[in-house]
Amino acid sequence: MKRAKITIVGAGNVGASCAVWAASKELGDIVLLDIPDFADKTKGKALDLAQCGPIERFDANIVGTGDYADTADSDVVIVTAGLPRKPGMSRDDLVATNVKIVGSVSEQVAKHSPNAVLIVVSNPLDAMVYTAWKKSGFPPHRVVGQAGCLDIARYRTFIAMELKCSVEDITALLMGGHGDDMVPLPRYTSVSGIPVTQLISKDRLTAIIDRAKMGGGELVKLMGTSAYYAPAAGSVQMAEAIIKDKHRILPCAAHCDKEYGVGGYYVGVPCVLGAKGVEKIIEVELDGEERKMLDSSVAHVKELVALAETFLG
Ligand code: LAC
Repeated sequence: MKRAKITIVGAGNVGASCAVWAASKELGDIVLLDIPDFADKTKGKALDLAQCGPIERFDANIVGTGDYADTADSDVVIVTAGLPRKPGMSRDDLVATNVKIVGSVSEQVAKHSPNAVLIVVSNPLDAMVYTAWKKSGFPPHRVVGQAGCLDIARYRTFIAMELKCSVEDITALLMGGHGDDMVPLPRYTSVSGIPVTQLISKDRLTAIIDRAKMGGGELVKLMGTSAYYAPAAGSVQMAEAIIKDKHRILPCAAHCDKEYGVGGYYVGVPCVLGAKGVEKIIEVELDGEERKMLDSSVAHVKELVALAETFLG
């Protein structure tokens, strides 16, 4: 069987971590690409990772490059390119710079891998995935944003810490944009089937939800730059669902038109993810309060996209 080909654009912290997770899961051959000025460094990271193969027991061709020709005919492309946040910045502060970077990356990717599924990780996420969709010319289901897998992983981690139980037993749902107004849904959160509301008091749950919402900022403060291990793990979780055609239900930034009445924007919703990309968006019932929170998060996404469009050209 032919191995899948995964390109990761941007060989910084998030990109390099994506390569590590993808190699360790033996998802396929990996091309790590950065701008030509960083080609040697990128080649070095790829070679370093390839030399983990005998220890971690994976077989994969791992190439570092500054040339898009090496990415040709990728099955999945993960876009991590762009500036990360620094302390004191919100994700939205990156829009002007990252629209240009993600826009030109998406054009190149589409030229060299016209059948790929694009997973966008760059921030501000909801505007960047929209930019990638516009600039790639791909159908909306083949462009998808990573945010929910990360945000929900943070939420699940904090719940497991509180209950001193395995993270594996927590399932949860989270919707909306990848901003501090994201919408974790306790009504759709359970611990081995037990509603979380029976296990954690309302006050503690509110504190956990607030921490999850601000989880990116907490790490920027601690590390001086934005997180990378978990954003990369979330991206590779999506890549795996696509490459193995698993039809996993994951929270992703997907193009919603009639769904949730969004009207043509990318926002975080539960999706079925498989070889074709986003195969289906699942519409769950929301009560009045949940709907209000989602609407306010979507309104923020729309403002951000309007701003991005002024730089899109
Ligand atoms: C975060 C960044 C990657 O949430 O958006 O950590």
